Amino acid sequence: MLSIIDIMGPIVESVQKRQDLLGYIPIYTRSLAADNILDFDLYVFDGRDMVLFRSSQSSLTSESCSDLLKRNLNRLYVSANQRHEYQQYIRTNISQILEDKSVDDFTKASIVYDSAKELVRDVFADPTKCQHIKDSQAFVESTILYVLKGQNAFLNMLRVMSFDYTVFTHSVNVYTFSLALAHAAGIAKTDELIKLATGALLHDVGKTRISESILHKSGPLDQSEWQIMHRHPQWGVELMSETDLIPQESYIPISQHHERESGRGYPDGLGHDDIHIYGKIVAIADAFDAMTTNRVYRAAEGTFSTLKTMSAPEEGFDEPLLRQFIRLLGPVRPDIVR
Ligand SMILES: [Fe+2]
Ligand SMILES: [Fe+2]
Repeated sequence: MLSIIDIMGPIVESVQKRQDLLGYIPIYTRSLAADNILDFDLYVFDGRDMVLFRSSQSSLTSESCSDLLKRNLNRLYVSANQRHEYQQYIRTNISQILEDKSVDDFTKASIVYDSAKELVRDVFADPTKCQHIKDSQAFVESTILYVLKGQNAFLNMLRVMSFDYTVFTHSVNVYTFSLALAHAAGIAKTDELIKLATGALLHDVGKTRISESILHKSGPLDQSEWQIMHRHPQWGVELMSETDLIPQESYIPISQHHERESGRGYPDGLGHDDIHIYGKIVAIADAFDAMTTNRVYRAAEGTFSTLKTMSAPEEGFDEPLLRQFIRLLGPVRPDIVR
């Protein structure tokens, strides 16, 4: 007969394991350049405990890097209270990581995705802090060529995307979809893509002025709550104007991503001719991501039915752009996109 220890043992162990992992963030070993002084500690998880592998300020040698990879230790851990030091390291070194031929495309996509998510987290924590906005722009500039590198890079970005909605993952998903759609629609100049992508990444920043109780309400919003919600595009513009660090064109996705061709969108009820192409692109990316991710109050819709719903003329999306978006997702296996 099984004793209570036999039954509880694995449960206690798995709770313990989760406790051990709490307070640490997993990072990719390949994201670290050898022979670098890192100002954060590195830990390995031995299956039971978090063990200090390399303390900050000591150099990570190429021998120890290849030794880790030989032992299949592709993931290391950084203490959550050194998250900022690690993110700063990634932001400084992202170009080299993306150019490094020894780092596979899937790992690159994961690093770009995680890093963008953390960046948005910082911006949302303090949207008027100049450094956060400068970091966002620098990040967009150094990752844009990777995201546009071809179908493979786009597929890898789709593979690493989170299906569970948070405003951080949503912002990065909208950034990825908008960039791919803009490129497919013929916007080829890098400086234009940077302006669009910066606005796409920050499109919902105005939601930082909305209370958690409205943002995470499990039931439908009442009329006064919708009135507050409808103000987030304008609030986003106001917040970004305080630092005035992003280009004028980057304000367009922030102010127009809820406008619709029919004139039934918000905040200004603009019609077809008055909505800028950046607004039309981010509107499609935003609605698609919102409908295909899990929310507290409903499960994610499938790709096919979402695109079908969005194709109805009353939904008010730009038809040629929406067709382009469907073609973009067409070659993607349905199990990769949701
Ligand atoms: Fe929005
Ligand atoms: Fe959004």
